[in-house]
Amino acid sequence: MLPYGRQTITEDDIAAVTAVLRSDFLTQGPQIEAFERRFAERVGARHAVAVNSATAALHLALRVAGVGAGHRVVTSPITFLASANAAAYVGATPDFADIDPVSYTLSPAALAATWQDDTRAVVAVDYAGQAADLPEIARIARARGAVVIDDACHAIGGAFHTEAAPGRAWSLGGNPWADITTFSFHPVKTLTTGEGGMLVTDRADWAELARTLRSHGIVREAARLTPPTDDNPLLAERGPWFYEMQELGWNYRLTDLQCALGLSQLNRLDAMVARRREIVAAYNEGLADLPWFTRPALRTAADGATASWHLYTAQIDFAALGKTRTEVMAELRAAGVGSQVLYIPVYLQPWYRRTYGYTPGKCPVAEAFYTQALSLPLYPAMTGSNVCEVIAAVRALVI
Ligand SMILES: Cc1ncc(COP(=O)(O)O)c(C=O)c1O
Repeated sequence: MLPYGRQTITEDDIAAVTAVLRSDFLTQGPQIEAFERRFAERVGARHAVAVNSATAALHLALRVAGVGAGHRVVTSPITFLASANAAAYVGATPDFADIDPVSYTLSPAALAATWQDDTRAVVAVDYAGQAADLPEIARIARARGAVVIDDACHAIGGAFHTEAAPGRAWSLGGNPWADITTFSFHPVKTLTTGEGGMLVTDRADWAELARTLRSHGIVREAARLTPPTDDNPLLAERGPWFYEMQELGWNYRLTDLQCALGLSQLNRLDAMVARRREIVAAYNEGLADLPWFTRPALRTAADGATASWHLYTAQIDFAALGKTRTEVMAELRAAGVGSQVLYIPVYLQPWYRRTYGYTPGKCPVAEAFYTQALSLPLYPAMTGSNVCEVIAAVRALVI
């Protein structure tokens, strides 16, 4: 059975993790900084902060950007729950603007139309691996004093082109439009650490605060400690044991074991992304002529060479095909092909409806997308014959 996504683990990965098991540190050791440094270099950001999930990275992103109670955070409804939940974690109101019907990412026009006086942040989502229209989103958000967080969980190693600044590919995590970019290292993603995530930013103060918050808000460096005061002689002696909790933080730490795996995977990132692009190109060619099957479309032709695909999500006209999505998934499964529906519009989840009063019809393009969405298997370890099996199974749906 070909799943819709899965990790790729090599002997080098296993050796890297094993070496950490034999070392002095399982967590809080040298692999973390090494992974952060290499990751920041790779995406072209000044700072990278490793955390134990992208959910944690999104939470910290909003927290360090000062988003909280009384604020509104707008994201795409076509995303995993975490992109929106992060807003609720900081006490803000998660809100949703509709998607663009071609790229399936946040529509700038819908974002502008959804804007309210209390909107303080936008969480753009690079759905399936295609960058959201970050320059246009940033133009709208910054003119209104809001921050832009790019949820690039689907797009590690990817880049995009834009008419706003033509002539080069802009890296996700290393472009001037996202104030903070977040990545996930869950096993279905392009690069894995088991569970894990990364927050990247060019702002040193936000990176330092995120590092403090990922470990309970604790500081130890002499320069960051509160000066001793006469009213608290108990804490006057500042020996090697001494620490202070200056913020309310969490345990969002990524371990050395995981960072060693991440470092090892980073060596193959370009090859893994290239293989994903090859598979997407093969699907696009092999499934081009089916009238009931719409292939994922690129925002610009040049993005074909730079997008880092996480999902191959097609739009299937189930009515034209004469089968329900459940029947199609069962037929594909019988042919050994897994598939998945990503995603149910987040605001339709019972908790969102109950808490914020959202109702069906809020984002019609996202709802239409949902009714036709189906993601086919996509991961670097797929062989040429695996890809042919998927194409054959999809083509056989009409028979
Ligand atoms: C778009 C998006 N954002 C956030 C997340 C959360 O990532 P994690 O599982 O690392 O917390 C995911 C994971 O599925 C995702 O796909």
